[in-house]
Amino acid sequence: MKSVVYSRTGDPSVLQLVDRDVIEPGPGEVRVRILVSGVNPTDWKSRLGSGDGAAPPFPEVTPNQDGAGVVDAVGEGVADLIVGDRVWVYLAGHQRPTGTAQEYTNLPAVRVVRLPEGTEFDVGACLGVPAMTAHRALTVSEDSPARLHPGAQAGKVVLVAGGAGAVGHAAIQLARWAGATVITTISSPAKAALAKAAGAHHVINYRDGKAANTIRKVAPDGVDLVVEVAIGANSKLNIEVIKPRAAIAIYANDGGSEFTLDVRQNMIKNVRYQFVLLYTVGKAALEAAIEDVTLAVGDGALPVGEDAGLPLHRFPLANTADAHQAVQDGAVGKVLIDVP
Ligand SMILES: NC(=O)c1ccc[n+]([C@@H]2O[C@H](COP(=O)([O-])OP(=O)(O)OC[C@H]3O[C@@H](n4cnc5c(N)ncnc54)[C@H](OP(=O)(O)O)[C@@H]3O)[C@@H](O)[C@H]2O)c1
Repeated sequence: MKSVVYSRTGDPSVLQLVDRDVIEPGPGEVRVRILVSGVNPTDWKSRLGSGDGAAPPFPEVTPNQDGAGVVDAVGEGVADLIVGDRVWVYLAGHQRPTGTAQEYTNLPAVRVVRLPEGTEFDVGACLGVPAMTAHRALTVSEDSPARLHPGAQAGKVVLVAGGAGAVGHAAIQLARWAGATVITTISSPAKAALAKAAGAHHVINYRDGKAANTIRKVAPDGVDLVVEVAIGANSKLNIEVIKPRAAIAIYANDGGSEFTLDVRQNMIKNVRYQFVLLYTVGKAALEAAIEDVTLAVGDGALPVGEDAGLPLHRFPLANTADAHQAVQDGAVGKVLIDVP
């Protein structure tokens, strides 16, 4: 089979297209014929490592956590999946070398999820990191339900920072599906159009200096929950627009910056800060995300593509390095790799 691997960390040139044997799945594992591999920032960050060319955690690593395809073989003890199932996968390369930038990948059955009937593989390849992160961020509020389904967030106001980003896009779609009023911030008219297409009710440019006023106008009682990509840049804005007991779910590190909090202002509002990292979020949160995201996909609530606010940028497997570079360069939308 064709496989993309790296055996030292570094820039995209460390990625090599090679031929490798197809391996039988072990007990509890499933082999998936990957058809579409999804690229996320975490994939190039892992490939780059600390930038000093150090060895990756395995002698040879295939990149990319997300993907979609068809179950090709099941290992001993796997009861829920059968050969031929159309599936999406998540955390494919977490603590193992088996990412999705290859024709066949073996992974624990729990990380392989059946796609609802009629769902395109492109949708499946966009779910893992973005939708599961968005799900966690949307379910950590004291005053909002811990699970998502239609109506779960009725009457709630959700602020999604960066609604044209991959996670922001999924957060808008999930919150909208769950019945929330969704406000999102963006930095340009083009990104505003994407966030609107994703389903945001109110789209606000955070660079025009009036974001707090505009948010207060559309949500006079305040925001219940913030899905935050840039806490350093937005912490002041957040405190100005949230309700008492609001939650702020932080899933990105703002380029590594630190941020300071006004203790009194946060105390007055009884704010809950919840950091989110998919790798360590825990079994219960992953299971909840799988169930709710699958329900949303089945309802047609998580479409992808330009019309749905998430333009797709496609690369062949042989050009995985270009796909990584595109994500690293901040491609707007989603970068996908077609696996032959
Ligand atoms: N913790 C986790 O488990 C987890 C999971 C997924 C992703 N992440 C991290 O989250 C980040 C985003 O991932 P992604 O795949 O969504 O990337 P993406 O598609 O590149 O989106 C990032 C978005 O953030 C926006 N943004 C930047 N600064 C902003 C600000 N001050 N206010 C509002 N929006 C702002 C960007 O747009 P503008 O610059 O135009 O505003 C862009 O739309 C990455 O650093 C990634 O590694 C973490």
